Amino acid sequence: MTYAALSVKISLSLLLLIAIFAGVPHGRAQSVAIGEEIEQFQAFFLERFFSVSLEEFNEGPYSLPQSVPQAATFRFLEQLPPYMHALIPARSEWNRTYNGTTLKNCMSRHPPANQFPYVLDNRVMSIEMAILDCLESQDRSFARSDSVELAALTAVFREQARGIANQVDLDDEKLKALYREGYRIFWSRQGQYNYSCASCHVQNAGNTLAGELISPALGHTTAFPVYSQTRASQTGNGWVTLREQYQQCISRMGAASPHLGDQRLLALEVFQTMNDVSIPLKAPQSRP
Ligand code: HEC
Repeated sequence: MTYAALSVKISLSLLLLIAIFAGVPHGRAQSVAIGEEIEQFQAFFLERFFSVSLEEFNEGPYSLPQSVPQAATFRFLEQLPPYMHALIPARSEWNRTYNGTTLKNCMSRHPPANQFPYVLDNRVMSIEMAILDCLESQDRSFARSDSVELAALTAVFREQARGIANQVDLDDEKLKALYREGYRIFWSRQGQYNYSCASCHVQNAGNTLAGELISPALGHTTAFPVYSQTRASQTGNGWVTLREQYQQCISRMGAASPHLGDQRLLALEVFQTMNDVSIPLKAPQSRP
């Protein structure tokens, strides 16, 4: 299938979901409780891919039955993951003392990874923001949002909650406002090709695009950061953070990609993490 010929498999539940999320006037959407929307979002994928349980939506495209035989290769590789050589030094860094403190110690004042993003002192904290704050308190010079080290350290923090269900707070007003913003971005068509995120990851999840199986939007946040073997061979750094993935997909849509610190990427992260509530984390993971 080509970009121009993305087909949509219309099913009754898809029509319902589009009506609920995309077609409703703004006022009506506001009045639907977020918890209810999330339930409908999850129910759509559970019905569309009825052989996959909610807990199993944490392997990106490999969650889907359509991914056989790629999923077999993926699971085989995960036994001796291609990212191990990049993860092990980051694990040691986690426990190393700089400026009188370790990251382990500094990050222990935050909740575990399965409760991020969360609000601290009126500020929505992503894991990367929390680690950056800690790195700064350690006087570390590489403390930049696009550094390889930050991605690897995020992988170390997130693997500590591997297998634990996402428990993001669905009632916090600040998070709910970002969810609303992320929701609008996710469902709005943009860019040269006039696609929305949903065009691919809802309406075409399970179909292939230029040889790639399109992952379901449900579970998207649970695997990140991922380690791309292609990226590793091209640049030496295989880590892809969730925000970098968003940047890549926004360019894929033919739109200008926001910078890593852009509020729109945080909004997408909050929207997707809230949709993934109750799904166990399974980060990091490898990708081709
Ligand atoms: C033209 C189709 C298309 C659009 C539009 C699109 N993506 Fe993607 N996206 C892909 C493909 C293809 C991949 C790689 C295969 C896969 O994992 O789905 C991908 C991968 C991803 C992944 C990584 C999944 C994983 O576990 O490896 C995330 C997260 C993601 N997209 C989110 C988004 C978001 C958010 C938007 C909107 C800003 C978006 N995408 C728009 C096609 C698209």
